Amino acid sequence: MFRSTDELLKDGVAALKLNSEEERMLEGMGGQTAKKAMELLVAIGEVMGAERMVRVTSAQVSGVSYGNIGDAGVEFLEEWAGNGAKVVIPTTLNPCGMDLERWSEMGIDDAYRSKQIRIIDAFMRMGVSATCTCTPYLVGNHPKYGEHVAWSESSAICYANSVIGARTNREGGPSALAAAIVGRTPMYGLHMEEGRRPTVIIDVEAEVRTRHDFSLLGYAVGRRIGTGVPLFVGITRADKNQLKIMCAALAASGGIALFHIQGITPEAWRYQPQGLDRIQIGASDLEECREVLSSEGDPDLCCIGCPHCSLEEMEEVARMLRGRRVARGKALWVWTSKAVRDEAERAGYVREIEEAGGRVFSDTCMVVCPLEKAGFSHMVTDSCKAAHYVPSTARMRASVADLREAVAMVVEP
Ligand code: F3S
Repeated sequence: MFRSTDELLKDGVAALKLNSEEERMLEGMGGQTAKKAMELLVAIGEVMGAERMVRVTSAQVSGVSYGNIGDAGVEFLEEWAGNGAKVVIPTTLNPCGMDLERWSEMGIDDAYRSKQIRIIDAFMRMGVSATCTCTPYLVGNHPKYGEHVAWSESSAICYANSVIGARTNREGGPSALAAAIVGRTPMYGLHMEEGRRPTVIIDVEAEVRTRHDFSLLGYAVGRRIGTGVPLFVGITRADKNQLKIMCAALAASGGIALFHIQGITPEAWRYQPQGLDRIQIGASDLEECREVLSSEGDPDLCCIGCPHCSLEEMEEVARMLRGRRVARGKALWVWTSKAVRDEAERAGYVREIEEAGGRVFSDTCMVVCPLEKAGFSHMVTDSCKAAHYVPSTARMRASVADLREAVAMVVEP
């Protein structure tokens, strides 16, 4: 049972103050699902010491793969959809457990497929777009600088905060869905000015040029500091694809949801690299991460697209495969969103990749799909996040390599 704001304030338990509209939702006047959503958000707000709610302009909800949420998750979502829950802001989904069209090519069986479809249907009945991607910012869910959002995929959160300058905490799937239903989230953490200040300076002494270098850098920093807001000094150039893969790595080896890069990311100009602890990251730190994330032996699967590939990345893979073929007994799987896949199809990149023997899957990824069903034993990837998780999620070996090297490991010599 939740207490009114007046009661909370009287008890001195929390300073969370709701406006009259929020009070009415909490009392159930907006329906039972909005009441439950508000109860969840108020509980989080109380624990985190939020003083008020803030309106959010979009949500991105994780916990979409049947493999992750299981039957209990299916029942929870169907119950909410059946009770009339509706989102009030644009809301997209994280990757689900299979390509919604090409699931049979991934070794997915019918039982898994039907559970996954029930999950997607439940979200759609709530008004959520079935855009299943960890790069919503590439396919229409792109907040503006300074906007407050409620996102729950760790790499997307880091990208929204750091590269776009939007503001989101690390939401869980249920709290992001609750925020989507009431259009608000508790105002604390990275929604606040003070939560966005750097906590440590990272002197980048290693040369970082390729996307894989940026992934290793993110992984090394996440391992070293765990949490906090790093301010990077010494990076002179970085494109959005490099920052995208670095976000994923920072959030995988650590819990980092925001960073600044002097001269590059949009909020970095506010902060001076002084008065904080400094950490140096050199070439040997990157090499150590490469070793930690790599296994002995010959990979039989190359996975590209963690986070989901952009159109430029699709073009790069297609270009690399021109005049080459994936070797017998090996595979090259590329992961992206449906919208980017459609664009890549129109541009001819999907045909080039698939004529060379590769496969392009959308709506899912190597970590959230049941990759073990496909029968591979060793994955190579350019993404430290994918190599970090796949040994436990798919019970197979993993290695990291630069994109060109990773592709070379599975094509004919
Ligand atoms: Fe995206 Fe899956 Fe990687 S959700 S960031 S491709 S682990």
